[in-house]
Amino acid sequence: MNFDAANIRRLRPLTGDGLQLYIETYGCQMNVNDSEVVLSILQNEGYRYTEDIAAADVILVNTCSIRDNAEQRIWGRLNEFKAYKKKKRSLMVGVIGCMAERLREQLIERERLVDVVAGPDAYRDLPRLLRQAREGARSVNVLLSQEETYAEITPVRTDKNGVSAFISIMRGCNNMCSYCVVPYTRGAERSRDPETILAEARDLFAAGYREVTLLGQNVNSYRWQSERGTTDFAGLLEAVAGIDPLLRVRFSTSHPKDLGDDVLEAMARHSNICRAIHLPAQSGSTRMLELMNRKYTREWYLERIAAIRRILPDCAISTDLIAGFCTETEEDHRQTLSLMEEVGYEFAFMFKYSERPNTKAARHWTDDVPDAVKTARLTQIIELQNELSLRSNRRDVGKVFEVLVEGESKRRSDQLFGRTSQNKVVVFDRGDRRVGDYVRVRIADCTSATLTGEAVE
Ligand code: 5AD
Ligand code: SF4
Repeated sequence: MNFDAANIRRLRPLTGDGLQLYIETYGCQMNVNDSEVVLSILQNEGYRYTEDIAAADVILVNTCSIRDNAEQRIWGRLNEFKAYKKKKRSLMVGVIGCMAERLREQLIERERLVDVVAGPDAYRDLPRLLRQAREGARSVNVLLSQEETYAEITPVRTDKNGVSAFISIMRGCNNMCSYCVVPYTRGAERSRDPETILAEARDLFAAGYREVTLLGQNVNSYRWQSERGTTDFAGLLEAVAGIDPLLRVRFSTSHPKDLGDDVLEAMARHSNICRAIHLPAQSGSTRMLELMNRKYTREWYLERIAAIRRILPDCAISTDLIAGFCTETEEDHRQTLSLMEEVGYEFAFMFKYSERPNTKAARHWTDDVPDAVKTARLTQIIELQNELSLRSNRRDVGKVFEVLVEGESKRRSDQLFGRTSQNKVVVFDRGDRRVGDYVRVRIADCTSATLTGEAVE
């Protein structure tokens, strides 16, 4: 029997019916991967992916709640979609992800901007929700789950290069940092079956991908138990690295309290596990860390840095930092600056504290650092980080790195760019090299953001 698309449709009507689907994604890498899962679910239902918003019958916005400015931007976008809705009466707009979870009522009520609302654990229900919306009913599902990991769904890759892909290995978060909305929007932590993770990584490698990034809010607490025994993060990492030496493995994010030597030693055993660890400190002041409920002190954090330096001498370290958390003094702030100096981060994501409703910090403390002070402190942090990144890059000049090529340089078509194991961007002359190749490059020059060099044999 010939199971072509038409036949399958006659057996089971697909709810998508060829409708054009456009997805816009905000927030973290996890959200990027979630959009790929959503795409997979909806393509299976007959929706067709489009990158042209004007052609869309359905616009989904995968949203982020981590800071107020992220949410404000998305409200702005939803208002812009009103114009599209005027032009095409049948257009459906859906909000998915973290804001869906946090703001379901406002989303549905405010000026009928939104037809469908689906939280991070409700994506399998999207075909039904969209069908209801097509019939005129506004549809909401924001139920969080203890089990959902979308384990067997193969994400439809939306990256442009075909070289590096994300794999979610767990969902949710149990850490309850006092400033953070994630445990509320994404629910409790749960790990994904390692067999499905390995299968996904193998398929990606076979399809030509050369780098996978294992994603979770706190990958170090990954844990899977079955009759075959327990897999922890170090074990998972080694299993993925074992697929092929040509497959690079990265991971994000590590919580300092859970980053054990076992993971560092696993990295040391496999040169294809990239020499880059993202270890968010948030603050350099132990008093702040306690208020943030981070469960480590400055000293503990520095001891973990020492362990990385000892076991992986060539490892890059990056961080997240928050300026102006509740009650932060000039002295606390100076401690953050001194921690940055002491670690010498390669890279950092730096933010002003943004109070999030219902978090522990919002419930217990006043957001009492004036915005101008937050801005001034953040500026100092950013300036110092630029200096640290530049210093680190200067140390690389003259050295040779293996670069995985990701694409053509934005500035010049005769140049390619890629990344070192340390996750630094390198630009070099193309020659006969192609995207997906590993190229040894000698670094000749740098800025605080980029290395430039020449390929060597
Ligand atoms: N305000 C500012 N930054 C925040 N982050 C998380 N919550 C907040 C908040 N309320 C930052 C942290 C985290 C990163 C993903 O976002 O640094 O590591
Ligand atoms: Fe990702 Fe957190 Fe933003 Fe949700 S709130 S999208 S988990 S960064």
